[in-house]
Amino acid sequence: MVDATELPGASKATSNGSGPESAADKTTAGSTRSGAPSGPRYAQIIGWGYEVPSKVITNHDLEQIVETSDEWIRTRTGIEERRVASDPQETTATLGLAAARKALEVADVHPSKVDLIICSTSSPEHIFPSTASIIQDGLGATNAGAFDLSAACSGFVYALSMARGHILAGDAEYVLVIGAETLSRLVDWTDRNTCVLFGDGAGAVLVAASSVPGGIIASELGSDGSGADLLIVPAGGSAIPPSLETVSSGNHFIKMDGKAVFRFAVRVMSDATKAVLARAGLSTDDVDLVIPHQANLRIVQNSVLKQLRIPEEKVFVNLQRYGNTSTASIPIALCEAIKAGKVKPGDHLVFVGFGAGLTWAACAVQWSVPTDRQEADWWRATRRQAGYQAAAARSMWRRAVRWVYQVWPDDPEGSPRRDIEPPKERETPLNGARGGDD
Ligand code: COA
Repeated sequence: MVDATELPGASKATSNGSGPESAADKTTAGSTRSGAPSGPRYAQIIGWGYEVPSKVITNHDLEQIVETSDEWIRTRTGIEERRVASDPQETTATLGLAAARKALEVADVHPSKVDLIICSTSSPEHIFPSTASIIQDGLGATNAGAFDLSAACSGFVYALSMARGHILAGDAEYVLVIGAETLSRLVDWTDRNTCVLFGDGAGAVLVAASSVPGGIIASELGSDGSGADLLIVPAGGSAIPPSLETVSSGNHFIKMDGKAVFRFAVRVMSDATKAVLARAGLSTDDVDLVIPHQANLRIVQNSVLKQLRIPEEKVFVNLQRYGNTSTASIPIALCEAIKAGKVKPGDHLVFVGFGAGLTWAACAVQWSVPTDRQEADWWRATRRQAGYQAAAARSMWRRAVRWVYQVWPDDPEGSPRRDIEPPKERETPLNGARGGDD
């Protein structure tokens, strides 16, 4: 458990000589995954990072693809450009992995210390296995459980709530929460109703058990499945399995009733914010920064600004540059808010989102760690990079061992099977994943 003296204002010498930026990577006696917690536990966000593809698609670029205009998109949504994973090697897992590495780097926590990885996504690498497991392998997080969470654009806030629960129950010391999407792969680029809205990206935070009061103090989760068809990818699951017909009819693309989603969003964004503040024992005046789901500027204006009367300077918006990155939008915005100096220890933050399901979610956070992160020194960066190379080698080794067991017959007299291909060096694009090496 991260000790109280190791968080804001602390000047305690570090046990491993890693310097004052090391807010974690130092567990204290008395807290364990299996045993009962020895004192009050809190779930603190101690690391953060994001990754977006380099390819920018502007509204003017979209004018060349569908019948739309920069003016329409900007006035109806606030979006000016978005990032798109145009390189096939760039996937939900590579973006999530890069963001996760950065979060661990900020926290200065080794991947082997992570107990649980939750990857929220609606554009997973595959139906199964989970994208979280693929990221776990890429990180070399050998002691972590991993699963994907499906709650669409609300998913990151759902996952934060799960992380808090695991930590408060004493089941985990470090939980990595990732929101990652490549929705550009599910968008119909001939449908102007949807293709102008979405973008790709990933954000991650490391949540740690701490004795410092604060952290993720309350959450509010909601769902109304009667609105399931308002925002949906109809085909590809068990209800409508993929077929030539589903592909030719475009039913594997995102379908949306924009107006209905808009009305729902405006209502739940303010209701969920009020509910989570009540749970946390806070009023809107206590809030220092709201980080809303970055879907549409008019939704933010009509809910958080108008209904809750929270002033504009207390609401962080970056959707003009990324569009709606679904579950990744809140952690990406958090990272940019931190970079812009808008988050300080002691601040009260609200994360609030909505999405397909229909779902909504809000978390109230009392921020506790310094945000003026120092650059890692050369030795630490090199060691970290070596760790990721070792993780790739370990993954390859395990696949090779599995292949040998498959090929070699149980009968010692028999001959080895020649029909089973040896594992390739890159079965996933993860070896080429960027990030974590800067
Ligand atoms: N470019 C130009 N015109 C467009 C357009 C586009 N990209 N998309 C729609 N239009 C047209 C419509 O066809 C319609 O034309 P019509 O009046 O001739 O029928 C007109 O613009 C108005 O469409 P409307 O649907 O009323 O616009 P709107 O003000 O509701 O804005 C959305 C549309 C999608 C931007 C808005 O409804 C929205 O943001 N909804 C929420 C979506 C969302 O956040 N989804 C993700 C949830 S996580």
